Amino acid sequence: MHRPAVLFVCLGNICRSPMAEGAFRQAAALAGLDVHIDSAGTGGWHKGDPPDRRAIAEAARHGVDISGLRARQLSPGDFHSFDYILVMDHDNLADARSVAPQGAAVMPRLLLDLVPGREGAAVADPYYGGEEHFEDTWHDVSRAATALVVRLGGGLQPRG
Ligand code: 4NP
Repeated sequence: MHRPAVLFVCLGNICRSPMAEGAFRQAAALAGLDVHIDSAGTGGWHKGDPPDRRAIAEAARHGVDISGLRARQLSPGDFHSFDYILVMDHDNLADARSVAPQGAAVMPRLLLDLVPGREGAAVADPYYGGEEHFEDTWHDVSRAATALVVRLGGGLQPRG
């Protein structure tokens, strides 16, 4: 069976998308789901950097170690390598769409479109906020992670 591949995308790849990656790694592992997981930023300023220390701390509070992740920038090739490209907000959506090669089979989608009642909503950028904003981020990405596990485990086609 095809091993699904999921890419989480935000702006810097140091706050929201590494937290989403960590939450989904944990949820997928608990569900015994065999899936390839990565994250990237639409911007390249933080390339090679670890996640923000507040993101690392919030994930750690939930038993997830994201300290080993390193930021990278979204590339056109990602549209060939991943079945899902899940972005955090509407700017990410526009920026990711502009990176998509012509004829790409996969189009970026808002992460919270996976969460019933949150369709069309953004995962707010916590970068300029306080610790409590990182709690909100974890809440959002972990709910989406659970929904995604159910979706992938439910036999739905990832490209559908
Ligand atoms: P992220 O947060 O997109 O969730 O990783 C940000 C990280 C860095 C910056 C903005 C947002 N920045 O402007 O450097």
